[in-house]
Amino acid sequence: MENCIKIARAHTGRRGVIAFNGGFHGRTNLTMALTGKITPYKNLFGPFPADIYHAAFPIEQHNISVNDSLTALANLFKVDIAPSDVAAIIVEPVQGEGGFYVAPAEFLQALRKLCDEHGIVLIAGEIQTGFGRTGKMFSFEHANVEADLMTMAKGIAGGFPISAVVGKSHIMDAPLPGGLGGTYGGSPVACAAALAVLDIIEVENLIVRANEIGALFNERLSALQSKYPDLISDVRNQGAMIAIELMNNGDVEQPNTELTQQIIAKAAEYGLTLLACGFYGNVIQFLPSLTMNDTIANEGLDKFEQLFASLVT
Ligand SMILES: Cc1ncc(COP(=O)(O)O)c(C=O)c1O
Repeated sequence: MENCIKIARAHTGRRGVIAFNGGFHGRTNLTMALTGKITPYKNLFGPFPADIYHAAFPIEQHNISVNDSLTALANLFKVDIAPSDVAAIIVEPVQGEGGFYVAPAEFLQALRKLCDEHGIVLIAGEIQTGFGRTGKMFSFEHANVEADLMTMAKGIAGGFPISAVVGKSHIMDAPLPGGLGGTYGGSPVACAAALAVLDIIEVENLIVRANEIGALFNERLSALQSKYPDLISDVRNQGAMIAIELMNNGDVEQPNTELTQQIIAKAAEYGLTLLACGFYGNVIQFLPSLTMNDTIANEGLDKFEQLFASLVT
C-alpha cells in the first residue's frame, strides 16, 4: 500500500492522498494515516504524515448515499486540497475492516471519472477482495471499472507471505530504480505458491465456487435474520465475502457491539473462528475458504446458529 502511494506521488509529482471513512489500509505509519478508523489502529500511535484526507464512504444501510460521498469529495476540493494537488484516491471495493460494505458500482464509476478529469491515480485496495473472494477475480470487475494501481495480498498465495502492487506501466515506471524494494522482495518460494494458487483457482473453478458459497451463506443467514429480526439488521455478501450486522431493539442505528463481542468470544467453543469488523464493531464477518464443500459449510452454519441461540434465548 505504501508503494502505491510512493508510485502515485512519483508519477504525478503531487502530495495529497484521499481515502475513505472506515477504510483499512494497514498498520505502518503511512497506511495508518490512510486508515479511516481510530480504535484500535491509530489512537495510540501518532503523529501521522500530512496530506492524507478522508471522505464519507457510501453506505446505503446507514443512509449515506453515493451523492453524499461525492459531495464530501467536492467539499474536500473546496476546503482542504485542490484536485490538482491530489496524487491518488484509494478505495476498497468492499470495505473489509470497515464492515463489509460494498461500494456501489456507480460510486466506483464516478471515482474513475473524477480521477480521469483531474489526472489523479485511482488505487484499488484489493488486498482482501482479490483472487476470487468476491465472485470475480477482482472486485473492481463487478463495477466494470479499471483502477490505475492495485494492491494484492491475502488470497494471492493461499496464506503464504507475499504481496504485490500491479499497475499501468507508465505509472509504475515513475520511481527511480531502487526506489521500491526490500530485503524479502521477490521471494521465489512465495512466487511459486502464488503461481500454484492461480492454477488452483482455474482448475477448481473457485470463482464460480465463491458465488455458490456466498449464496449458501446468504440463504442460511437470511433465515437466521427472519428468526431474529430485532437483532440482525442486515445480511450481505459479494461472493464469499459475507457479513451480518447486529443491532439493538430493531433499530439499525443502535449497533449491538456487546452481542457481537459475546459471539466472537464464544466462537472457539463451537469450533468456529470468527472476527468482528465495522465502525462500531457490530458486524460479524465470514470468509470461508473457497475450497470448502457444502457439507462443511452447512456444519459451520449449524454451529453458528447454535452459538447465536445460546446467547440470545
Ligand atoms: C483492504 C486491506 N488493505 C490493507 C491491509 C493491510 O495489509 P497488511 O496487514 O499486510 O499490511 C489489509 C489487511 O487486513 C486489508 O484488508
